[in-house]
Amino acid sequence: MSETVFTYGAPGLKIGAGASDEIGFDLAQMDVRRVLVVTDPGVAATGHPQRVADQMAQFGIEARVFDGVRVEPTDASMEAAIAHARDSGPWDAFVAVGGGSSIDTAKAVNLLTSNDGELMDYVNAPVGKGRDPARPLKPLVAVPTTTGTGAESTTVCVLDVLSLKVKTGISHARLRPTLAVVDPLLTHTQPAGVTASAGMDILCHALESYTARPYSSYDRKQPDQRVPYCGANPISDSWSEQAMALLSRSFRRAVRDGDDAEAREEMAMAATFAGLGFGNAGVHIPHANAYPVAGRVRDFRPDGYPADEPMVPHGMAVSLTAPEAFRWTFPSSPERHLKAAALLAPGHEYDGPDALPSVVADLMRDITLPNGLGGVGYGEGDVGDLVEGAMKQQRLLATAPREVTEDDVAGILARSLELW
Ligand SMILES: NC(=O)c1ccc[n+]([C@@H]2O[C@H](COP(=O)([O-])OP(=O)(O)OC[C@H]3O[C@@H](n4cnc5c(N)ncnc54)[C@H](O)[C@@H]3O)[C@@H](O)[C@H]2O)c1
Ligand SMILES: [Zn+2]
Repeated sequence: MSETVFTYGAPGLKIGAGASDEIGFDLAQMDVRRVLVVTDPGVAATGHPQRVADQMAQFGIEARVFDGVRVEPTDASMEAAIAHARDSGPWDAFVAVGGGSSIDTAKAVNLLTSNDGELMDYVNAPVGKGRDPARPLKPLVAVPTTTGTGAESTTVCVLDVLSLKVKTGISHARLRPTLAVVDPLLTHTQPAGVTASAGMDILCHALESYTARPYSSYDRKQPDQRVPYCGANPISDSWSEQAMALLSRSFRRAVRDGDDAEAREEMAMAATFAGLGFGNAGVHIPHANAYPVAGRVRDFRPDGYPADEPMVPHGMAVSLTAPEAFRWTFPSSPERHLKAAALLAPGHEYDGPDALPSVVADLMRDITLPNGLGGVGYGEGDVGDLVEGAMKQQRLLATAPREVTEDDVAGILARSLELW
């Protein structure tokens, strides 16, 4: 019997310029007295996390800032953050001020200070033990300072397990933040390179959930088998469409001029809206490919990110195979692909499998993203390794609208070595 039910989950939302000034008030309503503010050194340098912490004092809340988050967190960096929180606790609530790296680290800290055990007990099997948290978590307020991941509304936290060289995560409904406070004023200091990469993450969240396998095409689940990602559905579709319309107006502008307040506000909404969409529908091939693309980096160092280690940032890694992935998914639903192209670049006539790939590639060129996998240092000889890494992401590939074989992924990767 095929599925007849879909689900939708979301945090409370507070969105708009100045929203982050109200966090102390909001936490005081939850009887919170001691708060750990979680951030990374780059965001800490903007002063935003300290301002958020200082503002809580007037509500009788003691807030301390922990700025030890690693950009694109690892098991080691998350364990260090958890150890800090355990040693300096107990904490009544957590506030993450930063991008996906800070928000995901705060989710892990919240989980491991509210529940027994260690990080790897909860990491997805087979890498970890895939245990479910037995106890409810503390309130977590997520305050994004990038316009990208949508991590403020999702149930997952992503980490690099160093010893195994794999990126994986923890996924459970209890990880979802209690409240997302989306204040576009905090995003003006986001470097142009981060705005470009993180913005491609928004775009791919919207496009992948919009083109995902529909929820009704799966087998009927029992109530205890339901997962946060249920496939494309009418609620996720409408969030994805709204995110695409916002991106079409504001993405190029926000990269060009970080102080364009209207573009920053629209990008902040696009990120959260796309998060509300993909956080319930799921993502597929470009995200599956991004894991090995980021994980096997050799010496690429992108502008705007910490220069101490080579990296392909998440949004950039996702974008590099997106045009070719959407060329391949086109036959599953031509009308959706054409509608997405029209939402992203209105005012043209769109036809055929090349429409969406060319809209995405044009955008990438305009915001100066690397020209395909070759632009971050991969060559033809790397395709086999990248295929192997992508095929491990079966949970994501299962959300693709067509069945994906190794040869299909190899073709998409090979055609993504150079995009224009
Ligand atoms: N949990 C989820 O649902 C989810 C979804 C997608 C991606 N992710 C994860 O999120 C991480 C990426 O997060 P991200 O793209 O938001 O970036 P990020 O948190 O990694 O930050 C990127 C860089 O930008 C800097 N920065 C951020 N905001 C700034 C600001 N306002 N001013 C100045 N500098 C600023 C940071 O210091 C850092 O150097 C990856 O680990 C990725 O796997 C999680
Ligand atoms: Zn993403």
